[in-house]
Amino acid sequence: MARLPTSLLSGSRALVLTLLALICVPVHHVAALDIDFTNDASVKSGLALVAKGLMDYYNGNDTGQTPGMFVSPYYWWEAGAAWGSILDYWYYTDDETYNDVLKSSLLYQTGPNWDYMPENQTTTEGNDDQGFWGITVMAAAEKNFSNPQSNEPQWLYLAQAVFNTMAARWDDKHCGGGLRWQIFTWNNGYNYKNTVSNGCLFNLAARLARYTGNETYTEWAEKIWDWLSDHKFIGNDSTNWAVYDGASLLENCTEVSPLEWTYNSGLLMSGAAALYNHTNQTIWLTRATNIWGRARVFFMDNTKIMYEAACQPSGRCNTDQRSFKGIFSRFLGLTCLFAPSLNDEIQSYLAATTVGVLQSCTGGSDGHTCGLNWGYNGWDGVWGLGEQMSALEALQNRLVHTKPGPLSEETGATSVGNGSAGTTSTTSETVVHPLDIENKDKAGAGVITAFVLILLLAASWWLIA
Ligand SMILES: *[C@@H]1O[C@H](CO)[C@@H](O)[C@H](O)[C@H]1NC(C)=O
Ligand SMILES: *[C@@H]1O[C@H](CO)[C@@H](O)[C@H](O)[C@H]1NC(C)=O
Ligand SMILES: *[C@@H]1O[C@H](CO)[C@@H](O)[C@H](O)[C@H]1NC(C)=O
Ligand SMILES: *[C@@H]1O[C@H](CO)[C@@H](O)[C@H](O)[C@H]1NC(C)=O
Ligand SMILES: *[C@@H]1O[C@H](CO)[C@@H](O)[C@H](O)[C@H]1NC(C)=O
Ligand SMILES: *[C@@H]1O[C@H](CO)[C@@H](O)[C@H](O)[C@H]1NC(C)=O
Ligand SMILES: *[C@@H]1O[C@H](CO)[C@@H](O)[C@H](O)[C@H]1NC(C)=O
Ligand SMILES: *[C@@H]1O[C@H](CO)[C@@H](O)[C@H](O)[C@H]1NC(C)=O
Ligand SMILES: *[C@@H]1O[C@H](CO)[C@@H](O)[C@H](O)[C@H]1NC(C)=O
Repeated sequence: MARLPTSLLSGSRALVLTLLALICVPVHHVAALDIDFTNDASVKSGLALVAKGLMDYYNGNDTGQTPGMFVSPYYWWEAGAAWGSILDYWYYTDDETYNDVLKSSLLYQTGPNWDYMPENQTTTEGNDDQGFWGITVMAAAEKNFSNPQSNEPQWLYLAQAVFNTMAARWDDKHCGGGLRWQIFTWNNGYNYKNTVSNGCLFNLAARLARYTGNETYTEWAEKIWDWLSDHKFIGNDSTNWAVYDGASLLENCTEVSPLEWTYNSGLLMSGAAALYNHTNQTIWLTRATNIWGRARVFFMDNTKIMYEAACQPSGRCNTDQRSFKGIFSRFLGLTCLFAPSLNDEIQSYLAATTVGVLQSCTGGSDGHTCGLNWGYNGWDGVWGLGEQMSALEALQNRLVHTKPGPLSEETGATSVGNGSAGTTSTTSETVVHPLDIENKDKAGAGVITAFVLILLLAASWWLIA
């Protein structure tokens, strides 16, 4: 996600809605969100409102727009993550309203080699961006989501293709291994090795191991974890299992950025839980448990309401960061399923969190738009795809036990794959040339990005320290 932070406004449609809300709210049309978790009908009608709010940011099927993409300023990666939220929404509510658009979007964005390297994205795509689409199709396979036609790529195949293309970028030449953040040399962050890119690969490896039973994936997962651990991206001493952001390879990955993001913690926690589920080895349960132990820093002390600790208190979460709590919530739900001994405690934090979510989702012209800060008394006046996605995921991951857990080939999964997926492509990586990028723009953008990044790091460091 090496892009310029964009305006806090999330699309003209939302802006217009909010302006309308300020000018003339017909109070009797406003439906507040009120979910009684002991009542199935109440849960379904409440979640339908939140999911509709998320889909309000989707215009990819309008004339002139791109299927699979959400409105500006939401980047391609976040679309991949948002479709994962809609997939879970269908799974937990049985509401098939969005299934067609979900399926066609996942298939439209695969790229010519069926590996989520679509040509429109290849000048900016990072490993993490590709990884989040891979994780969404992995979940489609685990949930037995409607299989594509036989002449189309299958969910498992796509997840394997993402895994294989990412694994092929493993870089032994710097820092003894690890993935770089960026795929392409001309992008900012090419010299940065980070937890999110490696965490996506780890999470995919763990779930592919469990799904297929192919131990090559287990070996990869072990290798990735060891690399993250050896380089202190995971602070695994007895008191501190923090998951940090990453480090520059120009310093041999020795200066680890201390930022802690919810979604990084979730990637490693649920991946470790999947490996425990697959291998039955206590080391993986210990790892998942200890990451969860540290992840309590993402919940407010008194109320146990989830928050993005590195940016939320200062009001500086950028567009991307505002969706992280949603991805984290999804991984918390998966952890409950893969490592049942963690279920009760995680669910108690989710239950406390959703009290905050419900009182936050009271904004906008519809009366149930969700905000960013769930500890705020009421709606905090902030809205967007990330806010909506995060609220939906926090709420629906309280339902993980109402449906069967993730399937594997052993337990009846039907998606068809190929262990070599993505390895024989004439990959877009060789098709795109750095010279296609305007050097002047690139340099300018680099300076601004670096400047913003320094500001952001300084602000967040000050918060955490
Ligand atoms: C690529 O961009 C063009 C122009 O915006 C659009 O028409 C097309 O649908 C896009 N394709 C994909 C796969 O996103
Ligand atoms: C959206 O567009 C895709 C791609 O063009 C198409 O396959 C799909 O049927 C459309 N979905 C809806 C709900 O209109
Ligand atoms: C860089 O780190 C790797 C292990 O990650 C180590 O093998 C190598 O010796 C280090 N290189 C330098 C120059 O410190
Ligand atoms: C903690 O990290 C070290 C390397 O830094 C590794 O040798 C050890 O196995 C890790 N412990 C656990 C429990 O993962
Ligand atoms: C998993 O390990 C536990 C003890 O660590 C053992 O009691 C149990 O039988 C094992 N289950 C399987 C399926 O191997
Ligand atoms: C593995 O996951 C399944 C599905 O959620 C669950 O039923 C099972 O108890 C888990 N196995 C272990 C060893 O935790
Ligand atoms: C998966 O979906 C297929 C096709 O819809 C169906 O035949 C099969 O029973 C499903 N399997 C499970 C385990 O739900
Ligand atoms: C899997 O993919 C490889 C490489 O594209 C191909 O050679 C092989 O035939 C495929 N296997 C199956 C079972 O489709
Ligand atoms: C296991 O996965 C690896 C890595 O993707 C692949 O190369 C290999 O062919 C797979 N083995 C089987 C038996 O599918």
